[in-house]
Amino acid sequence: MNPTPQDQDPLLLDHDYDGIRELDNKLPRWWVWLFNLSIVFAILYLIYYHVLDAGPLMAAQYQAEMAIGEKIKAAAVAEFENRMVSLQPSTDPLMLAEGRETFEKLCAPCHRSDGGGLVGPNLTDDYWIHGSNFVDNLKIIWNGVPSKGMVTWKGVLKPGTIHAVGSYIYTLRGTHPKNPKPREDQAPVQTGPSEFE
Ligand code: HEC
Repeated sequence: MNPTPQDQDPLLLDHDYDGIRELDNKLPRWWVWLFNLSIVFAILYLIYYHVLDAGPLMAAQYQAEMAIGEKIKAAAVAEFENRMVSLQPSTDPLMLAEGRETFEKLCAPCHRSDGGGLVGPNLTDDYWIHGSNFVDNLKIIWNGVPSKGMVTWKGVLKPGTIHAVGSYIYTLRGTHPKNPKPREDQAPVQTGPSEFE
């Protein structure tokens, strides 16, 4: 009698697929444990997240992280606003000199170098389109009024420079330059308290 395959190798299974044979090797213990553990993990995961609803799902986690991100962003904006806004207009001669330089270079073409107004409104009178507080001025310089031709300076000028130029134009108030542009506050555009973007 011919020897069966098992006689040749006890691990060899007795089926035969077009000559392809299979060994019944034992899987390594670590592999079997890993496999079993993954099944246990999947069951626990399913129960924890989908049956008991005990933990936040991915979408909720995403929302939570976005909320944290928003908080960080808001804190950064608030810190920036504080740096810019909580300060009164500077009276430091160096700051004012820097502000004047910026004003002459970038703002005078529209506001005139004495602030009397040209394309842009008079910055020396008591009438303001967007509010008379120092902070109102800062906001307008920061955000601009693109629809009316006032440039948005954020991203162009540093916050410190914006503060300096704001402080400089603050010193122009009440200076009565010759041939000023008439008041332009007829159609006030109100800006909210936190228009910094
Ligand atoms: C291209 C022209 C132009 C330039 C350059 C310009 N402005 Fe203006 N600015 C305007 C116009 C126009 C307005 C009026 C906007 C409106 O009617 O709402 C304005 C408004 C303002 C206001 C608000 C005035 C108010 O009555 O509330 C301030 C403050 C101001 N500009 C400061 C500056 C400073 C500082 C600079 C330079 C860093 C500058 N502007 C550069 C055209 C300009």
